[in-house]
Amino acid sequence: MSERDAPSPAPLPPVIGHRGAAAHAPENTLAALSQARALGCRWVEFDVRLTADDELILLHDARLERTTDGNGKAAALPLATIRRYDAGSWFAPAFAGERVPTLAEALSRLGELGLGANIEVKAERGRARRTGERVAAMVARAWPPALPPPILSSFLLPALSGARAEAPELARGLLFRTIPKNWLVVAMKFDCATIHADQRFLNPAIVAEIRRLGYSLLAYTVNDPVRARSLFDWGVTAVFSDLPDAVLAAAGVRQGAVC
Ligand code: G3P
Ligand code: CA
Repeated sequence: MSERDAPSPAPLPPVIGHRGAAAHAPENTLAALSQARALGCRWVEFDVRLTADDELILLHDARLERTTDGNGKAAALPLATIRRYDAGSWFAPAFAGERVPTLAEALSRLGELGLGANIEVKAERGRARRTGERVAAMVARAWPPALPPPILSSFLLPALSGARAEAPELARGLLFRTIPKNWLVVAMKFDCATIHADQRFLNPAIVAEIRRLGYSLLAYTVNDPVRARSLFDWGVTAVFSDLPDAVLAAAGVRQGAVC
């Protein structure tokens, strides 16, 4: 299969709220999704991983300490335990009582808000394929039909493989820190339609190569409007930002666009 056979991504806005809108609300919570929409975002990115009892939750880190008042590894705890923890107070008192959301709750909130999404699959060693399968199955079953089709992305190749096996029709994004020389081989092997990379390691030549070969390129995490402007000038398709409002407004990208 060539990259032309990979599911095509929906048209992307230039700025995507990162972990919801991580500078404005506790990351990866329902409040962060709502905040992103209130700031004018049309798409958000968030992270999903499995609990010990195979439930899907929004959480970036493997452990709970940084973003909740709980502790331990999410993969070692059942959902009921994780749900007891406060996922908002660490960010600001106004968010006290916010919970770690399930993926099902997040999809429902996206539907209410009219938000598209890039769902990043995170996993502990040995659980990546299963997590990719579970995420893809739920998205295929419960994605709000009025929304643009989502992108499932991961740094973990088994997660992409699992997602493809479960729901090949869903667009997949290949995540890198730095773009390796063999990026195209990997993208074609896993039928990925988009390439996602750390903006700090991009340069005009690699951006041009990726775009010339027909892939959308999404760069993380861009909170500086001047840097965003440079990336767009090079040809980057979209940036993930914790400050989506500031990046779009100050960068002046695509007159009249909303993030
Ligand atoms: O999906 C882009 C970006 O979120 C990947 O890095 O560590 O913020 O999940 P991280
Ligand atoms: Ca992420």
